[in-house]
Amino acid sequence: MGKIMMINASPRAPKSNSKEYAKLFAQYFSSETEYCEVKKSNHLMLCQKTENFSDILFVFPLYADSLPVTLLNFLKTLEVNPPQRKPTISVLVNCGFIEPEQNNIAVEMLRLYCTTNGYPFGSVLKIGSGEAILTTPFRIFLKAKIKKFAASIKTQKYDTFQVTMPISKKMFIRASDVYWEKYGKKNGVTKEEMKTMKIEE
Ligand SMILES: Cc1cc2nc3c(=O)[nH]c(=O)nc-3n(C[C@H](O)[C@H](O)[C@H](O)COP(=O)(O)O)c2cc1C
Repeated sequence: MGKIMMINASPRAPKSNSKEYAKLFAQYFSSETEYCEVKKSNHLMLCQKTENFSDILFVFPLYADSLPVTLLNFLKTLEVNPPQRKPTISVLVNCGFIEPEQNNIAVEMLRLYCTTNGYPFGSVLKIGSGEAILTTPFRIFLKAKIKKFAASIKTQKYDTFQVTMPISKKMFIRASDVYWEKYGKKNGVTKEEMKTMKIEE
């Protein structure tokens, strides 16, 4: 294989967890990587760039059990502006809930896209507790999985991996409640307000 193009398709790419995941991937990947972010105005430029890579890694969050619209819109552009030589597409998806399986449908959507558009499909890494794991001691499990994921792409022995925080769902929910309550307090929002639609106003 040659170079890999990491495409961050998070709607908040510059400040995203996906950016951190891409950074970790680049640390463990033993060939050249290039990092790009999907923006409203750079779809065509990114499509042209794909010509120079043997592999693409889409890095993105799960949004409403699906692909974020940032990625959907980019895929639409790529569909009509494909590279001549189709790179292998791998996927690194993270979700907020603890179960990495929450990402399954999003992965299948991308797999279908690849089959329909003639892209070889590579490896998958599904991350659960994606908002939290980066800042906990469980980061070591994440790093170990990213290492394996990166090696599978490098050696073209494609596989599917998953990782999450090794705690019970109950404990995860309790810890999340404490985190979001503190976060709300810091921003002048109470728990009661967070439970209402007023949070959107
Ligand atoms: C609008 C929205 C929808 C989301 N939908 C889901 C979801 O369906 N399931 C889930 O587990 N997490 C969901 N999340 C949580 C994100 O996947 C999670 O916060 C992720 O770490 C964000 O990654 P990013 O910083 O790379 O964008 C959602 C977040 C937002 C803002």
